[in-house]
Amino acid sequence: MKDDRTLDRLVGRLTLEQKVRLLTGATTWRTAAEADIGLREMVMSDGPAGVRGEAWDERRPSALLPSASALGALWDEELVEELGGLLAAEAARKGVDVVLAPTLNLHRTPLGGRHFECFSEDPELTGRTGAALIRGIQSHGVAATAKHYVANDSETDRLTVDVRASERTLREVYLAPFEAAVEAGVWLVMAGYNAVNNVTMTASPLLREPLKGEWGFDGVVVSDWAALRSAEEPARAALDLAMPGPQSPWGASLVRAVKDGRVPEEAVDEKVRRLLRLADRVGAFAPPRRRRMPVRNSYESRALLRRAAAAGSVLLTNRGVLPLDPTELSTVAVIGAHAAAPRTQGGGSAGVFPSDVVTPLAGIRARLRGRARVVHVPGPTPGVAPSPLDTDRCRDPRSGAPGVLLRVLDESGRELHAEHRLSGRQLEPDLPAGARTVEISAVLRPRQAGAWTFGVGGFGRMTLTVDGLTLLEGVFLRETDDPAVVHVNPPVREARAVLTSKRPVHVVARRELVPGCGRATVVTAAPPEPDAELVSATAVEAARAADVAIVVVGTTEHDETEGYDRSGLSLGGHQDDLVRAVAAANARTVVVVNSGGPVEMPWREEVGALLLAWFPGQEAGAGLADVLFGLAEPGGRLPTTWGASLADAPVTRTRPVGGRLPYSEGLHIGHRAWLRAGRAPAFWFGHGLGYTTWEYEAVDAPTKVAAGDAFTMRVRLRNTGTRAGREVVQVYMARPGSSVERPLRWFVGYAAVRAEAGRAVTADVEVPARALRHWSEEERAWSTEPGPYRLMVGRSAGDRRWEGTVTVERRAVTG
Ligand code: BGC
Repeated sequence: MKDDRTLDRLVGRLTLEQKVRLLTGATTWRTAAEADIGLREMVMSDGPAGVRGEAWDERRPSALLPSASALGALWDEELVEELGGLLAAEAARKGVDVVLAPTLNLHRTPLGGRHFECFSEDPELTGRTGAALIRGIQSHGVAATAKHYVANDSETDRLTVDVRASERTLREVYLAPFEAAVEAGVWLVMAGYNAVNNVTMTASPLLREPLKGEWGFDGVVVSDWAALRSAEEPARAALDLAMPGPQSPWGASLVRAVKDGRVPEEAVDEKVRRLLRLADRVGAFAPPRRRRMPVRNSYESRALLRRAAAAGSVLLTNRGVLPLDPTELSTVAVIGAHAAAPRTQGGGSAGVFPSDVVTPLAGIRARLRGRARVVHVPGPTPGVAPSPLDTDRCRDPRSGAPGVLLRVLDESGRELHAEHRLSGRQLEPDLPAGARTVEISAVLRPRQAGAWTFGVGGFGRMTLTVDGLTLLEGVFLRETDDPAVVHVNPPVREARAVLTSKRPVHVVARRELVPGCGRATVVTAAPPEPDAELVSATAVEAARAADVAIVVVGTTEHDETEGYDRSGLSLGGHQDDLVRAVAAANARTVVVVNSGGPVEMPWREEVGALLLAWFPGQEAGAGLADVLFGLAEPGGRLPTTWGASLADAPVTRTRPVGGRLPYSEGLHIGHRAWLRAGRAPAFWFGHGLGYTTWEYEAVDAPTKVAAGDAFTMRVRLRNTGTRAGREVVQVYMARPGSSVERPLRWFVGYAAVRAEAGRAVTADVEVPARALRHWSEEERAWSTEPGPYRLMVGRSAGDRRWEGTVTVERRAVTG
């Protein structure tokens, strides 16, 4: 590694212009190279659920991990680290130096559109999980990026929202996971789009303190994509790298500002030094090289992803139904549209094209093959957004191959470029010079006649024809600058066409390119909606005739996506009615919920078992089948409190008023908010059942500690069930009579243990010194109050098995 003197010497060899050029991306995903010092470009890619690479190209797929909320549910840092290793291997395969992950924002409200992309409601659990992922990625020479610094916890007006939060709230809640990331040695931090306390994050004083000063972060602060809006303040503040490029508010303006003395040249040098340090860390002073990676092939990666999908699933209730014994089954009804078409990931910039998806239906079928009959009934359509044209239903009109034809035309309609593609969702196609129109066409083979819904997404003038008949035509103006909307998830306009037979139809969508219209073109088609009553009746019939009914329900593409917050938590379509009807027909009904964040489950007491699968990644069905049939324990615990209904949730506001979003709940988010409100949620943070039972036998905890010291609690527990299992022992704290405001109870640590049936085991839970401290706004320092603190050991924030007291002996203040 190059030391600081060597880095300084390299900086000294560059002119001001050369230095400034390095501080803005060369392209959307690359930093600039500088031949004079032997520096190559560095490639960046989203993250976090997989490494997409530089192109949004469905022909170059990626390993798709479970989404972050599912990783938050693991409570297993070793496994998270292994998954980080898989991200590093994917990065190496795709020539990526910097992965734009993990997202360390918090589940402040269940409505957050990117909830699925964040680990947890709790700063401690988020910090520990994030640190593990960072270690996993970076130990293989690939950089991780802690994002989005800070308080970027919801999507409404995300480019401009001004979050108002007290210094104490920031320090103890929202900054804490980033502090853990810096402690884990993260190499980049991404400054968010939002403002905090009236300063946009790319120019925020929080970049200097605590990030670079007090915490000693020595890496690069990169802007979120197009978050930099002015040259000088961010340059004087501690932003280092503006992405994407080459257009940026820096460049010539920054050179001028330095020459005019408005930005000190040392500030530029400091940024370049950090960038070169990063380059050194990822090996960018040498050509990209092949590295040995922990996950070497798709067989290994699939096995790991399958294990992770199972380990993160959370069993919320079980009335003796799970695990299922295949030898006792002759017919299994698998019900719900998500069983055959699951959501494996949330929407937005994190999206990747998975190479293979094992659906719940396929996973269950594979497990029961030759043993039991599997009957699948999709049930009513849960309001699923029409899906992009695909290889299943369409063929390229020119070659006849499964997929679509993408053409780029010039002003006169002449073809400049044509290629066969696999999807009607094209996000960044290659556009040759002179390109005026993007066209996607396909021959669609309808599996049924009736009123089909066709749609086109994107901005600019668009037309959509079906067999020559114009269904949609118009200019669609963009109403936002949000790149996730403009380039990734543009709104889709829809129209209906009645197809009178199953005869193939020719679908042609065209989008005229005008400046600022973004890169995305999307063409969708959805078959006629089935009669909800009829299909529900069929599902109920199938459930009644089966030994077990497995109902898979979930959110739809409209929901849980970057750029938009959610407006409600209820499952779309007739899914609640479907679950109720099926559960009434068969007491052995297992409900599997396929969502990234909380949904309302008004039927939760009526079903045989309730399992959260989250957005499980590509091995969804394989992991699910392992859990359902007992090959794996559902190892997950809730990383977030799930309320019975949105109306009950204590913190729901995501809409700024006058541009401001006050975090008026302060320290009290997640389970702390429920405790303060005196309300019981449906399921507490930390809750989750395995397939065995545990007795907490004894706890050995210190009665006295010195302020500023960590301590260990030894919890002895016994597996009292009939099979081996894993238990997550959690520790919470409280401070009745505190001289400062505190949560009624807060989470301070956990340890997971395994034991065979009948065996006792000891869990050593480390309680870090930070668990006892609070941020004193008067002293602008961490303070630890002397006196007694309650210690609680339990299975969730609402299930305590032991209580004791520890007394802190002296007050401590650390600056
Ligand atoms: C998102 C980031 C992402 C970036 C690049 C932004 O819109 O907020 O999370 O890394 O785009 O895709």
